[in-house]
Amino acid sequence: TKPKEPELPLFFGWFLLPEEEERIKCATMDFLKTLDTLEAFKEHISEFTGEAEKAVDLEQYFQNPLPLHCTTKFCDYGKTEGAKAYAELQVVKESLAKSDELSVTALIVTPRTFGARVALTETQMKLWPEGADKEGVAPTLLPSVEALPAGSRAHVTLGCAAGVEAVQTGLDLLEILALQKEGKEGTQVEMDLGTLSYLSEGRWFLTLREPITADTNFSSFSE
Ligand code: A2P
Repeated sequence: TKPKEPELPLFFGWFLLPEEEERIKCATMDFLKTLDTLEAFKEHISEFTGEAEKAVDLEQYFQNPLPLHCTTKFCDYGKTEGAKAYAELQVVKESLAKSDELSVTALIVTPRTFGARVALTETQMKLWPEGADKEGVAPTLLPSVEALPAGSRAHVTLGCAAGVEAVQTGLDLLEILALQKEGKEGTQVEMDLGTLSYLSEGRWFLTLREPITADTNFSSFSE
């Protein structure tokens, strides 16, 4: 009999250690709590609720079933392009179960997703697949994404609105970064954590004054 091929996971990524996950969840929930009380946010509330006067409880609005992580390669058990090649990379095999520190430099909130932008180090970029930034990006957004530095899509999904898939977080982040680059930032509000900017259509971006670091383990994930 042929030896069984090792199975490919749903995805690879850096997973926050449990105590780090709690810390980040608390800090980011506090931010959401403050955000939905801000006048600037309330002015654009209809972009979340579809109605001008309705309030929104952002902590309830965003749900997240998976452990907090930053995806490097989505393999879908081998169905995605390059999944096997990625799993076989020496750097991937050597990194498995190794700990690493991630640096979160910004938070994003849109009517679809809540996420944390991750600034990858040069070493971490070795685990970031070539072309990962533009995978599944709409053709109209592609030129702007290609103009961003590699690794711009790196993020941790903190939550999704009902019926929205996690893959949307990276796409929302790229859209925001592209708008920023075009100088399309609107209202800016100073908050304890940093500067909040509005980028039309319910998109908010908080640049953290100090990056939030989190200890992680590089690992694969299957359900
Ligand atoms: P993200 O990395 O933005 O959080 P799901 O639960 O939908 O199967 O997704 C599992 C994980 O893989 C999530 O972390 C998700 O998004 C990521 N993911 C899902 N689909 C893709 C995709 N097409 N490209 C990149 N990452 C994906």
